[in-house]
Amino acid sequence: MSKEIKFSDETLEVVAKIILRYPEGRQKSALLPVLHIAQAEFDGWLSSEVMDYVASILNIKPIEVYEVASFYSMYNLKPVGKCLLEVCRTGPCMLNGAEDLVAHFENKLNIKDGETTADGMFTLKTVECLGSCGTAPMLQCGADYYENLDNQKADALLDKLRDENQRSRYC
Ligand code: FES
Repeated sequence: MSKEIKFSDETLEVVAKIILRYPEGRQKSALLPVLHIAQAEFDGWLSSEVMDYVASILNIKPIEVYEVASFYSMYNLKPVGKCLLEVCRTGPCMLNGAEDLVAHFENKLNIKDGETTADGMFTLKTVECLGSCGTAPMLQCGADYYENLDNQKADALLDKLRDENQRSRYC
């Protein structure tokens, strides 16, 4: 049976407070933070059912949610692993080895960009500049940045994340 798409009571309270930050009739302004909350609450990604639910809460059309969610790489429109490795592929990172880093992850994890490992632990995703160009190449996993990466550091990072996430749910 599929999980019911509904925020918990505590989350609904948080969402209501966010909506109240904006003037009457401007509840769409709360879309980005509410999508973040929805993604965190519903297994790390936004299904069309979840986006429809967010639209109903904000009293806007589903298409208004889809167009925003599909624009930003921070929203996932398909299931992801426990650890989402978002590797920057923009110029400075590319010049400092991002391409090799992505190839290393693909090789090591036996997946391609955009795919998830068979055990559901890692998803590899290339993204545009994450604003940490001075420490290129880098990646983001959850709220953390991992910088000045090379293959050796990448391997150590995978070990660390794998170890930490045998127990907890998301990076
Ligand atoms: S180019 Fe990679 S963080 Fe800016």
